[in-house]
Amino acid sequence: MTQNALFTSYTLGDITLANRIVMAPLTRNRAAKDCVPGPHAAEYYTQRASAGLLIAEATQISQQGQGYQDTPGIYSEAQIAGWRLVTDSVHAAGGKIILQIWHVGRVSHVDLQPGGLPPVAPSAIRAEAMVFVHNRFVPTSKPRALELAELPGIVSDFRKAAANAISAGFDGVEIHGANGYLLDQFVKDDANTRTDAYGGSIKNRARLMLEVAAAVADEIGAGRTGIRLSPVSPLNGTAASDPQAQFDYIVGELDKLGLAFIHVIEGSTAGPRDVTTFDYGALRQAFSNTYIANNGYDLKLATERVAADRADLFAFGRAFIANPDLVARLKSGAPLAEIDPETLYGGGAKGYTDYPTTA
Ligand code: PHB
Repeated sequence: MTQNALFTSYTLGDITLANRIVMAPLTRNRAAKDCVPGPHAAEYYTQRASAGLLIAEATQISQQGQGYQDTPGIYSEAQIAGWRLVTDSVHAAGGKIILQIWHVGRVSHVDLQPGGLPPVAPSAIRAEAMVFVHNRFVPTSKPRALELAELPGIVSDFRKAAANAISAGFDGVEIHGANGYLLDQFVKDDANTRTDAYGGSIKNRARLMLEVAAAVADEIGAGRTGIRLSPVSPLNGTAASDPQAQFDYIVGELDKLGLAFIHVIEGSTAGPRDVTTFDYGALRQAFSNTYIANNGYDLKLATERVAADRADLFAFGRAFIANPDLVARLKSGAPLAEIDPETLYGGGAKGYTDYPTTA
C-alpha cells in the first residue's frame, strides 16, 4: 500500500511541516487578563503539536480589533511575552505554529472598544451577528464608517502585529480575511457601500485586504505570510453579490505578492460545504503556492482531495479540540472524541487541556 500523502512532510513557504494536517484557528476566550494568552495556552497548543501546522486562534491587532471578551491580542509587550511561552513550548515539542492576526471591524460591542466608542466598519451598517461579552452572547453594536484617512493606520496595525508575532517566536502569520470580519467586510458589498477608492468595484473592495497582505509580506516575508478567505460563508452577516469574480480577482492579486498560502473555508463556516456553487478549483489554479482547504473535512475526503491534487494541506477545527492527538488517530483509525459545547468559550482547563489522548 502506498503511504497516504496526508502523513508526509511538506514545505509551506519558509516552513517545513511534518505532515499535511493543520489545526485551524479556534476562538477559546481564555485570555482573561489584559488579553494575554491564558495560563493553560502553552499546554493546550503543545498537546496538539503533532499537527503539521498549528494556526493559533484569532488574535486582535489592536483593542479596536477586538470583538469578543478574553480573546488574545498581539499589540502589547505582555501579550508578546505570553505568546512566547506558547511558541517556545510548541517548538520544543517539534511543532510549527503561526498566528492568525485579526481585526473584527463591526463584529464588536461598545463595551470592548476604546473609550466605549462604536466599533469601526467600512460603512455604518450593523452586523446581524452576536458577540460574546459579559459572559453571554449579545447583539453587535452599530458601527461607524472608517474615514479614508484612518485606513493607513489599519494597515500599519496589521504590519506591527505581524512583526510582533515574529518577535513572539511564531513561524509566520495568517491574515484573517474571512468570516465577516473587517477585511471581509470591505470585500463583501452588503457591508461596504463606500463611494471612495475602497468601495464599489471588485478592485476597490479588495484594496484594503491587498494592502494589508502586501504590508505583512513586506514586513515578515511572503514565505511566512498567508491569508484565510471565506468566499461564500454567511457567518457574521456578510455576502458578496458576485463571489466568484471577486475572489478570482483577489487570489490572482495575492499570487502576485508571492504569499505562502491561501486558506479557504469552502462553504459555510462550521456548516454545510455546499451552501452555494463556487469553483474552489479556480482559486487553486490562480494561486501558485499552497492551498489549505478547510471545512467539514474528514479522513476520507482529505485523502481523496490530496490524491486528486485539489489541495495541499487540510485544516481541521473542532476535531482538534477534543482530539489533541488527531493526527495519530487519523493515521490509526482510532475513533474521534466529541467536543463539549459548554466549555468552548471561556473558562479554564476544563474542556481545554483535559481532553485525553488515545495512548
Ligand atoms: C468566533 O469567535 O466565533 C469566531 C472567531 C473567528 C472566526 C470565526 C468565529 O473566524
